Amino acid sequence: MTANDLKADILAKVTEYYRLVHAPKQEAPFQAGTSRVQYAGRMFDEREMVNLVDASLDFWLTAGRFAETFSGQLEDYYDVSDVILVNSGSSANLLAVTALTDTALGERRLQPGDEVITVAAGFPSTVAPILQNQLVPVFLDVELGTYNIDTTRLEEALSARTKAVFLAHTLGNPFNLDAVAAFAKRHGLWLIEDNCDALGSRYRGKLTGTFGHIATGSFYPAHHITTGEGGCVITDDPRLARIIRSYRDWGRDCYCEGGENNTCGCRFTKQFGTLPKGYDHKYVYSRIGYNLKMTDMQAAVGVAQMDKLESFTARRKRHFQMLCEGLKDLEEFFILPRATEHADSSWFAFILTLREGAPFTRVELAKHLDTALIETRGLFAGNLLRQPGYMAIPHRVVGGLDNTDFIMNNTLFLGVYPGLTPAKIDYVTDTIRKFARKG
Ligand SMILES: Cc1ncc(COP(=O)(O)O)c(C=O)c1O
Repeated sequence: MTANDLKADILAKVTEYYRLVHAPKQEAPFQAGTSRVQYAGRMFDEREMVNLVDASLDFWLTAGRFAETFSGQLEDYYDVSDVILVNSGSSANLLAVTALTDTALGERRLQPGDEVITVAAGFPSTVAPILQNQLVPVFLDVELGTYNIDTTRLEEALSARTKAVFLAHTLGNPFNLDAVAAFAKRHGLWLIEDNCDALGSRYRGKLTGTFGHIATGSFYPAHHITTGEGGCVITDDPRLARIIRSYRDWGRDCYCEGGENNTCGCRFTKQFGTLPKGYDHKYVYSRIGYNLKMTDMQAAVGVAQMDKLESFTARRKRHFQMLCEGLKDLEEFFILPRATEHADSSWFAFILTLREGAPFTRVELAKHLDTALIETRGLFAGNLLRQPGYMAIPHRVVGGLDNTDFIMNNTLFLGVYPGLTPAKIDYVTDTIRKFARKG
């Protein structure tokens, strides 16, 4: 038997194994209250498992042929020059901010004490890299309904130290890119989009993640596609891409791919720092970097996921629509989610806020849904400034954070992920209706 035959056998067995162990069974109809309605979950079939085993048979381990394919698929999808694969969305955010501190950017670089405009209602690792780079976050409030930055106070937030805007498209709903991009351009600011929850969302027809100088993605299982842990940095600026790769790869100056040598043609001929002339370029460090790379096994899963992205996106949108319709008659109790004007959102979740005076609390509703086996989550950190780790950070707040606090107390989200079914969604809306009306 040749190695190729053996491999074909193994991969055929993997498919068999998938069908036996993981494939959705010919299910009995959904039994309300006996099976859990998850808010998210990984969606895969035998193709992800075959790719994963294929990559492990290569035993290349670090980024290799699958990583090249996956980053190429993402570059084509976003139509950008570079998508740099990393080990998480949080690492992508860290690299996005760190890259903008690089001395190669001259006067435009972010320096300690410079300010970055952001929001406090979101995920902590959008803000953490601002602090990790000794920069100062400036928080603006968000709108109820879209859960994105209130852009009316952008000018008020500006100071002589403002150098960047870093915002997430909240739960897949694009922020007002017209206003934010125009503001950034007018004042020569960097714009970073945290696109971790928004793969597939569009604004005026264009994919989010392609508006800023840099954008980031996450492939954690709850997200639109998954590689287990994983993420990416997206840019259409090859100069920024080179800086990002360098910080990702230990801070090295060399840009050879793994397994390559002497791509620059001057591996042993140049002089760097005060190193001796001809010091091996592979071991020249022009930055204080990290190692945040993705492995080929992760990328192999991503390759199979990319083929499903369009269908996943369509199902997320369909489920969101069904929830909107199913809960429309409860607007006296809830603020229902609203897509930003000009947005076509690939929703990460369905976000609900209890109106002031609702006859029940968020905690009561969440507990009731939990008992009914319906998963909910809050809007991540609530008001980040009230989190133990963030209470003493250097920061500015402009215009108060009333809505952010209101969200912390009154908001929760439900799932829209592709694994849901119309029966599950009907069960969710019925359960909420019965609870709200009896209140
Ligand atoms: C908006 C946002 N940014 C960043 C992240 C971090 O991604 P990861 O979990 O891959 O580190 C998340 C996490 O879910 C997120 O929701």
